[in-house]
Amino acid sequence: MQKKYIWLIVVLACIILLLAIAASNASVSAQPAPGRFETWIANRVKGWAIRRAAARASLPPPPASAADAIRRGRGLFNMECAFCHGHNGLKPSAVGESMYPRVLNLSSPQVQALSNRDLYWVIQNGIRLSGMPGFAQMNSSREIWELVLYTRSFNHPH
Ligand code: HEC
Repeated sequence: MQKKYIWLIVVLACIILLLAIAASNASVSAQPAPGRFETWIANRVKGWAIRRAAARASLPPPPASAADAIRRGRGLFNMECAFCHGHNGLKPSAVGESMYPRVLNLSSPQVQALSNRDLYWVIQNGIRLSGMPGFAQMNSSREIWELVLYTRSFNHPH
């Protein structure tokens, strides 16, 4: 057999060995905290995908009174969202902290950097391959706006 084929077989055997090791370490457990690098990449891709989709989607007009909307949004939030994002969105719940990816604190700069349009899109559609459901079937466009404005209010102490 020619020398170059022997090298090819050695390289292929190494690749197969590495894949076997990677597969044996891979796990579907949600317990371990996602790694920093993995989280950084996932958040970049997610932010880009949300902004791109939201820019193309139509956005119904916001409610006339923001104060009323925030008050109603708080009630909806504590019924529909607190289970994962925590009561009044102050701190993710134990359930949210046990998901993979973990829920983000909605008052964090990363979430608050999203525009109202982006937040509307996320709440309406959810985020695929994460635990974030889309609420289009459950909430009217007015209610989604109320949730957006309530989530936005986490920017300020409340
Ligand atoms: C079953 C758990 C669950 C429920 C209920 C839930 N969420 Fe989420 N939510 C998540 C998870 C998990 C993420 C993070 C997804 C990720 O990082 O990819 C998320 C992400 C988000 C984000 C985007 C932040 C970001 O950039 O990742 C917003 C905004 C949000 N949720 C708002 C809400 C609102 C408002 C409700 C209620 C109407 C709600 N969520 C209900 C699990 C949930």
